[in-house]
This record gives sequence, C-alpha cells and structure tokens, in this order.
Amino acid sequence: MSNRYAVILAAGQGTRMKSSLYKVLHPVCGKPMVQHVVDQLIDINLSEIYTIVGHGAEKVQEQLGNQTQFVLQEEQLGTGHAVMQASSSLSGKKGTTVVICGDTPLLTSNTLESLIQQHENENAKVTVLTAQPEDPTGYGRVVRNSNDEVEKIVEHKDANKDERKISEINTGTYCFDNEALFESLNHVSNDNVQGEYYLPDVIEILKSQGEKISAYITPNFEETLGVNDRVALSKAEAIMRKRINREHMKNGVTFIDPDNTYIGPDVKIDQDVIIYPGTTITGDAKIGTGAEIGPNSEIKDSEIGHNTVIKQSVVHDSQVGDKVQIGPFAHIRPLSEIKDEVKVGNFVEVKKSSMGQGSKASHLSYIGDAEVGKDVNIGCGAITVNYDGKNKYKTIIEEGSFIGCNANLIAPVKVEKGAYVAAGSTITKNVPEKALSIARSRQTNKEGYVDKLKK
Ligand code: UD1
Ligand code: MG
Repeated sequence: MSNRYAVILAAGQGTRMKSSLYKVLHPVCGKPMVQHVVDQLIDINLSEIYTIVGHGAEKVQEQLGNQTQFVLQEEQLGTGHAVMQASSSLSGKKGTTVVICGDTPLLTSNTLESLIQQHENENAKVTVLTAQPEDPTGYGRVVRNSNDEVEKIVEHKDANKDERKISEINTGTYCFDNEALFESLNHVSNDNVQGEYYLPDVIEILKSQGEKISAYITPNFEETLGVNDRVALSKAEAIMRKRINREHMKNGVTFIDPDNTYIGPDVKIDQDVIIYPGTTITGDAKIGTGAEIGPNSEIKDSEIGHNTVIKQSVVHDSQVGDKVQIGPFAHIRPLSEIKDEVKVGNFVEVKKSSMGQGSKASHLSYIGDAEVGKDVNIGCGAITVNYDGKNKYKTIIEEGSFIGCNANLIAPVKVEKGAYVAAGSTITKNVPEKALSIARSRQTNKEGYVDKLKK
C-alpha cells in the first residue's frame, strides 16, 4: 500500500450560517462537524492529515489539537487555491491524497475506503466521489464523453443549459495521485464566473494530458450532504441521529421514541438499556447494561453503572455505580462519584462529592464538596454549607451516620462514624463517633397564649 494523505478544506467563512461560531465548528449530535470528518479519516489509516484553515483558524486548531497538521490560507481564493497551500508540505510525495470538505460531517470511513480502493485498483490519477441526487441544483456537474469517461466538472454557476440537466454531481470529495494533483494545480486559472481557483479544474487538465480519470458513484448521497446553513445543519443532525440510534437498537438497546432521543456519536450503551423520550446523552458517556434512562434526562461525559435508574435528571462529568436510583429532578454536577445502590431523590443536588454504597439523600438536599461514607441517611432538606462567600470547604460524613431533616452542616466539618445529627440542627463543630448532636434552640410552649392575643 502506498502512502495516503488527506487534505481537509476548512478555510471558508460559512457566511450562510449567520453565526459567530465558525462553520465547521457547529456541532452535529454534539460533535463539531470538522471533528466528525477527522474521526472518519483517522479510521482509514492515513500517514498525514492537513487541515486548511483561514476564517476562525485558531478555534479550529484548538478543536483539532494535534490530530492533524494545519496550513493557513490567508485569502480564500477558491478550493484549488486552498489545496495549493499544502504544496510545500505535500508536493513531490508519492501516494494517494484524499481531499474532503470540513462541512461534510456525514461521510463515513466505509465510503472513503471504497473511494480509495477504486482509485488504487483502477490506477487513476483522480477519482471523484459523485452522486445522483433528485435535485442537482447548485452542485458542480460531472460531464462525461461519449465513452462515458469523466471529462470535466462544471460548476453550476458556469454551466450551460444542457450541462445543468446533468444529474450526476461532484460531492466535493476526491482521491488524487498526490504528485499529479500538485503538478496540475499549477495550471488552474481563475477564469470563471466566481473568479476562483477551482479544484475540480484539475480533472480537465489531467484528462487533456491523457490521464485516467475515474468516478465512484456513491449510492449513499445522504452521506455527502454539505452543511452551508442551519437548515442543512438540522438535516445533518436528523440523519446522524437516526444512524446512531439505529446502531444502538441493533446492539440491543430499547428506544421508546428514537426520534426524540439524542445520543452523541461517542456514547457507549450496553445491551438491555431502556431509554425514554426526551433524553440526551453526549460526550464521552457510557451506560451499563439494564439501566433505564429518562424520560427527559441529560447525561454528559459520565459513566452510569448497570441496572441504574435515572429519571428526569441531569448528570454531568460524574461516575454513577450499579443499581443507583437518581431522580426524579436530581442534579449530579461535575466530579461526583455515586457508588452502588445509592439513592439520590427528588430535588437533590450533588456537586463534587462522593456518596458511599447504599447511602440515601431522598429529598431536597444539597451535597457539595462532601465525602459521604457508606449507608448514610441524609434527611429531607439537609444541606452542606460549603461556601462562605469566598472559599469552599469540605464536609465529611462518615459511614453509617444519620443526618436529620433540615440540618445545616457548616463546613469544614466532620460527622464521625455512626453519629446522629438531630433534625433542624446547625452543626458548626465536629460530631464524634456515635454521638447525637443537637444544635437548635429549645421549644417553649406558652399555654393558652393564642386566646390572650385574640382578646
Ligand atoms: C464545491 C465544488 C462543487 C461541488 C460542491 C459539493 C468547487 C469549485 N466546487 O462547491 O463542484 O459540487 O463543492 O459540495 O470546488 N474552501 C476553502 N478555501 C477557499 C474556498 C473554499 O477552504 O478558498 C472550503 C470551504 O470552507 C468549504 C469547501 O472548501 O468547506 C468547499 O467550498 P465551497 O465554496 O462551499 O464550494 P461549493 O460552492 O460548495
Ligand atoms: Mg459547499
């Protein structure tokens, strides 16, 4: 196998998105479009990937980090000019170069692999990924000669009446013989309606030199969708969502309403998980077998254990064990660790805290910057007072202790093993092992006082 390279075109402005966010960074199913492209390219094993950046260059580089190399295209003078910018890094190298746009998030590595296979098998200088959509308006058209060979590509704006009737279009993805690509780019002019250096003009140049040009007609036109505005963005989102959900269903996950369930491309879900409507699971998340998630829940960058039930709740950047019950209406905030068989009930918020096996906070609590041991019972309305307006402090509640309803634990503070805190107490000092701590004013009953008041 010869060397394989890729060039991603991502320097255009994306004016039609009408956005302060640079086009290729708009997410599809929670992941930036250009990242989808890079992920698929990484799957097909390339030796070097170059991203052509221009508008929003820094932000694109920030997103992709060291996954690709970058070449700056200072002025956007066309797709041919864009590829030309990689010349000092790539020209003269032997191998195959894939050129792909950063705004085609749906293209799969399978399709790219088939394109490269055909290109290499046929020993072509260029192989264009083409398609036959119902409506070819706007696309470059593939012009073939009487022998059905690809002659050239004509941009929609430059095409004559007959050429506009051609239904085969250029999807904007290609495979080139690397040396031929950079040699012929030198001959591309900007003598056209848009005054741009068109990459597809390379095809006509090579054809006139008698080189072999090939086209791979993809049966999956859907995959080649280029996102130029928010209408296309929502289309891409819907197609990707269907694709992701279908794959999980095939692997044994139940979706009560797949059209209304949003799963990110990198989420892992085990068999026999049930997902109820209105649920969003994104980022680097993993759901264990037998779990039930939703309805109306949001899980991000978290690991959820097996047989755990999460209802109408939010879990971010946290670890949740097995057989845990969360919700309805609970919020597990980042850096929390909820161990097996814990219950986090209605209107409970947990932040940057751990809860040991079998512990319960069933209603209306705030647990922040706390370390809660095993088998602790946190009563309704009990809270950790972790913030003095300036700094955050830690609360430690050891194994087997019992925190009464509406208690305030003013941090830094520790409730030792098996201790009890009476309901309504405001605890400011450590509670020793197995002690009962009461910190509230005594109740006085004034007999008959109400009748006196009414007189
Ligand atoms: C291009 C093709 C067209 C094809 C269509 C498929 C050309 C001339 N035409 O048209 O045949 O049917 O894609 O979607 O290539 N870019 C740069 N630098 C530039 C110009 C563009 O990086 O100077 C990038 C853009 O950010 C974009 C991609 O190249 O990601 C394609 O450019 P765009 O202007 O959208 O080309 P189309 O008009 O769609
Ligand atoms: Mg385009």
